[in-house]
Amino acid sequence: MITRRAALAGAGALAVPTQAQDLRSLKSIAAAKGFVFGAAAATYELKDADYPPLLLRQASQLVPEYEMKRNVLEPRQGQHDFSALDLLWNFARQNGLTMRGHPLVWYYANPPWLKPALQARRDETLLAGHIDAVLKRYALSSVDVVNEAILPDGTGLRPSLWLDAFGPGYIDMAFHAARAANPKTRLVYNDFGCEQGPNDRFRAAQLKLLDGLLARKVPLDALGLQGHLNAFGKAVDQKKLRDFLQEIHDRGLAILVTELDVDDTGGPSDIAARDRAVADETRRFLDVVLDTPATVAVLTWNLTDRYADPPDEAPLKALGWRYRKGPYDARLAAKPMWDAMAQAFAGRRIAY
Ligand code: XIL
Repeated sequence: MITRRAALAGAGALAVPTQAQDLRSLKSIAAAKGFVFGAAAATYELKDADYPPLLLRQASQLVPEYEMKRNVLEPRQGQHDFSALDLLWNFARQNGLTMRGHPLVWYYANPPWLKPALQARRDETLLAGHIDAVLKRYALSSVDVVNEAILPDGTGLRPSLWLDAFGPGYIDMAFHAARAANPKTRLVYNDFGCEQGPNDRFRAAQLKLLDGLLARKVPLDALGLQGHLNAFGKAVDQKKLRDFLQEIHDRGLAILVTELDVDDTGGPSDIAARDRAVADETRRFLDVVLDTPATVAVLTWNLTDRYADPPDEAPLKALGWRYRKGPYDARLAAKPMWDAMAQAFAGRRIAY
């Protein structure tokens, strides 16, 4: 069977520059093969003089890291503050980028008034009203309607103020409200856990959730794979991932990688070795994802390590290290992960 990658690569593999040149951009390499490439962005990052030009050269789509979270958007009941999200939205629009939304309904990052309000009255407008306000204001390319609703061990739905208030049907309610608010926005269920090899139970729980929604004719368009990988932990099992993504494709759903980054915790102190392992796991993951016809977009969570948190490893934290999870380091120099992504998109593989 000729895979999509082989067919596209045969159409003329691109000569992808080395890190030093970096004259091309991931968005152009991705677009040449029919994919959108983007990255999370935050308003504080746009204040750095040297970062926005890099973000604009590399990404054709943004996703707000914070600005669309409900604790930012509606700090007081009924009083939306869209100022930060408007800044990102205007930055994207003025520079010709699209924006995807994240998240509308999540167990986390909710304002303190929301849970008591839901406990006082199971008022569906506390769910649907927020969704309507956001999706009517922004013409988003896609949106994570519900984020991380499954327990990480795959044993059921994650406890949340939404599950307490409305039961499992809150997920259906959210998608119906989103479709009604903006029929043009691709509606995504977003989670992490399908990527790593040992997570068979999580993948089964993911398929069970999606099959239930589809059986009830819930307006669901795509699965968001967050793509939080590990360079020295639980690795991607390419066959298991390929089989799982085929299941998603068979259900008529699109696939987006929504928050790609690669945790290098537990690696050796040698930076080059850590970066190479991050690049290798990136390519192992993307080689499978990009071969799946359902895949339409890949977004990294942080494009650069400059804004990443300090690592959990105490010695490195003491040295002032930051996580090295993205394709650019804190000085905005491309890392081997950049090459791995470029090669994955271009369909050609190089040996490190
Ligand atoms: C994270 C941000 O990166 C953190 O800085 C913030 O403190 C909490 O949220 N899954 C998600 C993202 O869907 O929204 C989370 O982003 C990371 C995990």
